This record gives sequence, structure tokens and C-alpha cells, in this order.
Amino acid sequence: MKIVVTKDYEELSAKAAKIMLDVVKEDPYAVLGLATGTTPLGLYGHMIKDREKNGTSYAHVRTVNLDEYQGLPRTHAQSYAYFMRKNLFEGLKIDPENTNIENGMAADEEKECARYDALLERLPRDIQLLGLGSNGHVAFNEPGTPFSSGTHVVTLAESTVKDNARLFSDISEVPRKAFTMGIRQIMQAKKILILASGANKADAVFKMVKGEVTEQVPASVLQLHPDCILIADKEAAAKL
Ligand code: GLP
Repeated sequence: MKIVVTKDYEELSAKAAKIMLDVVKEDPYAVLGLATGTTPLGLYGHMIKDREKNGTSYAHVRTVNLDEYQGLPRTHAQSYAYFMRKNLFEGLKIDPENTNIENGMAADEEKECARYDALLERLPRDIQLLGLGSNGHVAFNEPGTPFSSGTHVVTLAESTVKDNARLFSDISEVPRKAFTMGIRQIMQAKKILILASGANKADAVFKMVKGEVTEQVPASVLQLHPDCILIADKEAAAKL
């Protein structure tokens, strides 16, 4: 794993944007694996500004997102579909037809997971962006998820529900279940870019980079990826 430590969140976001933009510039038909959470917001802001300034085209780019809460419709302000529209897709003028995310409202879980598995096979990702959960999760693959997993429905760890409660008006509103891309599929991306910011990620960063590769720390699997870059600000990298 290549590790880049930045002085602050702004530098992290700018460096991450450079990597994403290089992928899009090299191949206007690139498939981007995208992530939600607060960490990529700075990166997304840079991509939008770049498009406004330099006219980078996203007309042919396709996107695949990692995960979605179960039970939230696409119109719900906390759904990941809504998050992506408001924080990236509208700004990049990406045709919604070219974006993909699990359907949190799917009545048949198994069918929805199979649909997403097939879609991921059809759309090999040139890059997969990841955030890092404070318990070492990636996407919604919680500790204990088999490294061989495909798309599945998870029950969120109590720590994840607590971490994500800040975005809801009350913790009771945080969905307890979610659809997520599996670890095996994350590892299939040609390149992986994982971002970590802030002191509350320092333990997870340490375990991901320096710890044993174990299903108890899902992000530790990234040590095995041939082209993975971690960009961490100095608070998140403090224990390395
Ligand atoms: C959520 C998402 C993850 C994200 C993580 C960290 O649980 N499912 O994809 O990486 O939280 O979020 P944040 O970047 O807000 O710290």
C-alpha cells in the first residue's frame, strides 16, 4: 500500500482529486467506484470546481457506488443516492442513467444483490474510492465479513450506527440495515484510493496498514491489493 500523509484535510482532498482526475482524463469512458460519508466531500468539491474551470467532461463516465441504507427511498435526504446526486452528480452533470447504486427499497434482497453482482461484473472499475469506518469497515463491510463476500445485506455494527447518527436528526432514525458491495468486489477494482481524516480514524488506519490481515479489520485486506493508495491527514496517520 502506498501511503501519503498530508498536513490537513484540504491537502488530502486536493491530492485525491488529482488521482481521480488523472483516471478520467486518461479514459473518458472510465468506470469510477464511488463512496459516501463526509471524508470524500472535499474531493468531490475539487472535482466539481475542476469541471467548472477546465470543462472536464463526464458525459461518458459511468459510476458505481459502494452501499445504500435499506429502507430509504432515493429521495430521502440521508439516502446515499440523494447524497451522491447533491454532492457530486449534479455538479459534474453526470447523466443519472450512467450512475449505479443499490436500491434500498428493493422488496427482494436476494434479487437486488444478484442484480448488483451482475452489474459489477459488467462494469469493471478503473478506480474504487473508499472511506474508512472507525471500526475498520470499508463500504458497509463490518468486522467479521468474509473477504470472499459479494453484494449482501448487513446489520450495521452499533459503533457504525452511532458514528452515522450525526447525519440524522435522531439515532433512532438511522437504518439498522444496508446493502453493500462485498470485499471481493472492492478488491477487483484496478486501483483503490482510500481516504482517512481526523483523529477518530487513527486506530483504524494503524490496524489497516500495520496490523494483521484479518476479517476482523475489513480494511486490512487492502494490504493485499497491488495498486492501493492511502491518503491520510496527519491526525488520521498519527499512530503510523
Ligand atoms: C459509512 C459508509 C462508509 C464510509 C464510512 C466513513 O459507514 N458506509 O462507506 O466510508 O461511513 O464515513 P466518514 O467518511 O463520514 O467518516
